[in-house]
Amino acid sequence: MRERMEIIEGDITQQKVDAIVNAANEALIAGGGVSGAIHRTAGLGLEEECLKLGGCEEGQAKITKGYYLPAKWVIHTVGPVWEGGTYEEHKILAQCYRNCFAFVEPYNIKTIAFPSISTGAYGFPIEKAAKIAISEARLFLEQNTTLDKVIFVCYGKQDYECYTAIFEQLLTPYA
Ligand code: APR
Repeated sequence: MRERMEIIEGDITQQKVDAIVNAANEALIAGGGVSGAIHRTAGLGLEEECLKLGGCEEGQAKITKGYYLPAKWVIHTVGPVWEGGTYEEHKILAQCYRNCFAFVEPYNIKTIAFPSISTGAYGFPIEKAAKIAISEARLFLEQNTTLDKVIFVCYGKQDYECYTAIFEQLLTPYA
């Protein structure tokens, strides 16, 4: 399990993996944050394909090609906007991860990289989000044998340290 999950500090647009995940918005337009970075690197082909998808609901996910990205696929998922935990945001975030993992088998994805969905502009507290992200990855990996690696790409040292601490907490037996 441990060897199939990795936490790194870096830029998701540079990851040489089969699929990267985009923390998108419901309109699937570029926007800022990680989504802006992904669109800038992928080029206009990505924007054109996204426009044809007719948006994406919170908690759902849609897949496109990666265009000029090193990744073959981009899975766009729309995280919840944090409103203090008042409308079951945690369940919607978990759904985002599950719906992204749902593409793994049909698209023969062996390596997948996630940014920290919802923890930027959408304001989801990172510690809570990291717990959900790592727990959902573990749940998926427990019942899947085809995916080689899940990489959590943290943008900055603080996020990296948070994810690493949660990872140790959740994956160390009897901790
Ligand atoms: N690689 C990896 N992570 C990144 C990168 C990058 N190049 N750029 C930003 N991040 C990190 C942020 O530091 C944050 O931890 O991605 C995480 C998610 O932040 P946002 O991109 O703001 O995503 P989110 O909180 O889900 O908000 C989505 O923001 O830009 C808009 O169009 C987007 O409306 C949507 C909203």
